[in-house]
Amino acid sequence: MTVKLTLPAQSEMLSKDFIYGVATASFQIEGGKDSRLPCIWDTFCNTANKIADGSNGEIACDHFTRWQDDIELINSLGVDAYRLSISWPRVITESGEINQTGVNYYLNILEQLEINKIKAFVTLYHWDLPQHLEDKGGWLNRETAYKFRDYVDLISKAFSNKVHAYATLNEPFCSAFLGYEVGVHAPGIVGKEFGKKAAHHLLLAHGLAMKVLAINSPNSLNGIVLNFTPCYPESKSLEDIKATAYADDYFNQWYIKPLFDGKYPQILSQLPTEHQPVIHEGDMEIIAHKMDFLGVNFYTRAIYRADADEHFLQIAPPEPRTDIGWEIYPKAFTELLVSLNERYTLPPIYITENGAAMADEITDGVVNDQDRVDYYQQHLNAVNDAIAQGVSVKGYFAWSLMDNFEWAEGYLKRFGIVHVDYDTQVRTIKNSGIAYKALITSR
Ligand code: FCB
Repeated sequence: MTVKLTLPAQSEMLSKDFIYGVATASFQIEGGKDSRLPCIWDTFCNTANKIADGSNGEIACDHFTRWQDDIELINSLGVDAYRLSISWPRVITESGEINQTGVNYYLNILEQLEINKIKAFVTLYHWDLPQHLEDKGGWLNRETAYKFRDYVDLISKAFSNKVHAYATLNEPFCSAFLGYEVGVHAPGIVGKEFGKKAAHHLLLAHGLAMKVLAINSPNSLNGIVLNFTPCYPESKSLEDIKATAYADDYFNQWYIKPLFDGKYPQILSQLPTEHQPVIHEGDMEIIAHKMDFLGVNFYTRAIYRADADEHFLQIAPPEPRTDIGWEIYPKAFTELLVSLNERYTLPPIYITENGAAMADEITDGVVNDQDRVDYYQQHLNAVNDAIAQGVSVKGYFAWSLMDNFEWAEGYLKRFGIVHVDYDTQVRTIKNSGIAYKALITSR
């Protein structure tokens, strides 16, 4: 049986202009720790009981030394684009100057992509904050937003016109909520009074960076990548519906509404004063800078019920689930895209991440990940349905190019369409990767 991904013959997603890509992030694949400054994830990995398998990012996929082979691998998949992130601590010194050796590493990658006619989608911040900035308060310190702006200024000048699209931040929700409110991600800070403050500084950093990009890189597509976990009520009761709307504002709308409407959701005024962000005059205008694209990451949905103490309570995800425990519910993807399109005046959307962790097995050099192929098929269909309902989606990136360091899960969860043997660093294209390639090259 051949593994296949298909789309209806008349689908816009079969047009040559629709961009297909694969995505990665610096800390998850690079390794090469000795040639950059420490970041918050190094520190977090060195703290007991934070990473499920006690691992770290010191070697990861050793992409730092194997990048040429990896670009050949990307090229062999027939993709139009590669989404990578820049390690801030690799390219900027502690005193805020360019680290030319680090910059050259990425310039070589960008050049190699260009030679292969692969568009570079560059994420400027995918969670690896320099540790020296965390030591001064990290994203709880407003100053970090200005440090980010300065870094973006230097790096976008250094990259000149080699980048097709810049995303300022990847998933500010995760940085703020997981990193500074529940503490399951670096830097591991816990407290309801911190999450929204960190979020505000992240969004401010985004707005400041957008202004810089508009000057330094007017020809690239400049935007942001947000993740959404659409919220559904457990029952049709008014209480559950209200609780779900609150959760949606707290987790999802909080990060998009300021970008397009220049204000936070109304629940802002319901938050205890000590939980509220500190907003300076003019901040919301900076945050609402015009964007060329919106990156949307989607994996799953969440179901809520009302809760007297906490506004809402998330119930355990029902089956079917992926290996990381996330429910497979592609309908939420279509509904999300349609509802965002209704609520906001959006620029074109790129699906910057979508994919699944599965318990892969490699036998005689073959990974028959039919479960992942099914996931991709259902979610490609979901995007196609949204497009049919009028949503402007211009591209789709599989998460991920290859198995990698999955944050607090360490190396236990495999999201790649390429298998990585961490003992030998051998890469093997999984059946999902073969099917993805066949879809892309069939256009
Ligand atoms: C997203 C992250 C990405 C990856 C996937 C599974 O939240 O952006 O780095 O870990 O989840």
